[in-house]
Amino acid sequence: MKVQKVIISSDLKELDFCREKVEEFLRKNTKFDKTMIHALVLAIDEAVSNVLVHGFDSTDRKNPSKNTLEIQMEFDKTRFLTKIQDNSSFFNPLEKLPKNEAEQKKMLKKALKHNIQVGKGCGLGIAIYLKIMDKVLYEYDKKRGNILKLIKYL
Ligand SMILES: Nc1ncnc2c1ncn2[C@@H]1O[C@H](COP(=O)(O)OP(=O)(O)OP(=O)(O)O)[C@@H](O)[C@H]1O
Ligand SMILES: [Mg+2]
Repeated sequence: MKVQKVIISSDLKELDFCREKVEEFLRKNTKFDKTMIHALVLAIDEAVSNVLVHGFDSTDRKNPSKNTLEIQMEFDKTRFLTKIQDNSSFFNPLEKLPKNEAEQKKMLKKALKHNIQVGKGCGLGIAIYLKIMDKVLYEYDKKRGNILKLIKYL
C-alpha cells in the first residue's frame, strides 16, 4: 500500500501546495487517467478549502500553531482513500444530507441548477466531492477532531 501524509497550516495559500501533492501522489502511484486525477484533486480541494474557510474561525487564525490539518492519502489494490483530519470546530457535512442516495442526487441537482440560474447562492463544494467520490464518511474524535474520509474504488 502507498501512503502519503501532507500537513498544511490553516492558510488558504496552502491549497496550491495541497493540490500539487495530491496530483503528484495520484500520478506516481495510481493508474487513474488524467480526467479522474483532475476530478479527485478537485474533490479533495473542495473538502480542504471548506476546513480552511469555514472550519477555522478568526480566533483560530490568530493562533495558527494550534491548528492542525492533515491530509493522508492511501492507495491499494481496491481503493484510493483520503483522510482529512482537522481540529477546527465540529462539522459533519453529511448530517443534513438525506440518507437515501436518490434523494441526495436530487438535492445536488437542485443546488447546481440554482447556482447556474440564480448565480452563486448556495454552496457546491460538498455536492462536488459527493458526486466525484464513491463513498464519503465522517467521524468526530475528541482528540483528533473532524475526520473526513473520501473514497474512490478501483
Ligand atoms: N469544515 C467545515 N466547517 C464548518 N462549516 C462547514 C465546513 N464545510 C462546510 N461548512 C458549511 O457548509 C456549507 C456548504 O459548504 P459547501 O462547500 O457545499 O459550499 P460553500 O463552501 O459555501 O461554497 P463553495 O464550496 O461552492 O465555494 C458552507 O457554506 C458552510 O456553512
Ligand atoms: Mg465550499
